[in-house]
Amino acid sequence: MYRIGEDELKELEKVIKSGKLFRVGNKDAGHTLAVETFERELAEKIGVKYALCLSGGGTSALICGLVGLGIGPGDEVIVPAYTFMATALAVLAVGAIPVLAEVDESLMMDPIDLEKKISASTRAVIPVHMVGLSADMEKINQVAKKHGLKVLEDACQADGVSFKGKRLGSWGDAGAFSFNFYKIISCGDGGALVTENRQVYERALVYHDGGASFRPYKEDLEIEVFIGVQLRASEIMGAVLKAQLRRMDGILEDLGKVRRQMLDELGGVPGLRFAKYNDPAKDQGTVIPFIFDSEKQARKFAGSEGVRGWLPIDTGRHIYSNWEPILEKRVGGHPLRNPFNHPANKSLRTEYSKEMCPVTLDICSRTVFVSLYPDWTRENVATVIENCRKAAKTL
Ligand SMILES: Cc1ncc(COP(=O)(O)O)c(C=O)c1O
Repeated sequence: MYRIGEDELKELEKVIKSGKLFRVGNKDAGHTLAVETFERELAEKIGVKYALCLSGGGTSALICGLVGLGIGPGDEVIVPAYTFMATALAVLAVGAIPVLAEVDESLMMDPIDLEKKISASTRAVIPVHMVGLSADMEKINQVAKKHGLKVLEDACQADGVSFKGKRLGSWGDAGAFSFNFYKIISCGDGGALVTENRQVYERALVYHDGGASFRPYKEDLEIEVFIGVQLRASEIMGAVLKAQLRRMDGILEDLGKVRRQMLDELGGVPGLRFAKYNDPAKDQGTVIPFIFDSEKQARKFAGSEGVRGWLPIDTGRHIYSNWEPILEKRVGGHPLRNPFNHPANKSLRTEYSKEMCPVTLDICSRTVFVSLYPDWTRENVATVIENCRKAAKTL
């Protein structure tokens, strides 16, 4: 999806010529402060006070977000059954237990099932914005507020996307982005956490930097430094991401043109129905989501000539029933680091099965995604539209 070229090379040249590749440094000594600048610009773009760039991908952004929110052993965190396994992995990485909620026909977390899954031990929810679409953040926030839950948005597949005119990542208490090689912007790997909350930011900042107690920023902290891990971004990442961020809205805009053409031309075509959009403007998605009455119909449409559709049920790692290490509770590399063995988690809901979210399995088997590309010309799009129309006639 991402675009890359001269702009990134120019930013990289500045950093490499400075000779200063570590993110901490002094501008007066020739440091280019690439990571710091990227963080400031990302926070501004998303519309929040703080952003923290991370070398460990969107997964580390989720982990730092959970640490920031104070989640740990003894806590249940609700995640959707359709997401990359990293969402649940992050919960386990902080010692808490992931509890699965069904998705609805938007393919995102079902707010009704979310409410049903809340127990006395539930502390947080992670709505996930898959394939550039979004969860219904108004409804999720309502449920979370009613039950006193923290909200961490997993916007790893939706860098820069908005829901009802406000960027994803700014709806919850914190939001996580990924910049891996599949994403809307990228530096090969890497991620970022965004939040409006000073304490969440400081806790994530300290956790992500094993050397926090030796940094100049320590003097400004309102919290006491604790020992975390090492997930700092380098200036090389900062340089690429600064240029990538400048491209982001252009990519989203071009994607929007492709999407509009597809929605306008395919809306109302007999045999075709769009999946539910949580944003009524439908101004979202790196795919067009179609939903069918049966898996048979979905497969026929997806496999028709020139449609190049794909079923979410087929991507493997995004469906909970394929998360075998989690279902089998193989976590942490040491029995005492496995949250399923932690005494604080003894009374939590830790039973999983491949059949436990049948609604998600059904919806993901009847949905077809047709991927969109921002560089498609109107003619490219017209061809795909024609192929979709032809395929619809055969259903
Ligand atoms: C929904 C979702 N969450 C989290 C992640 C983890 O991101 P990363 O691979 O950057 O750690 C991904 C990555 O593909 C993802 O799709």
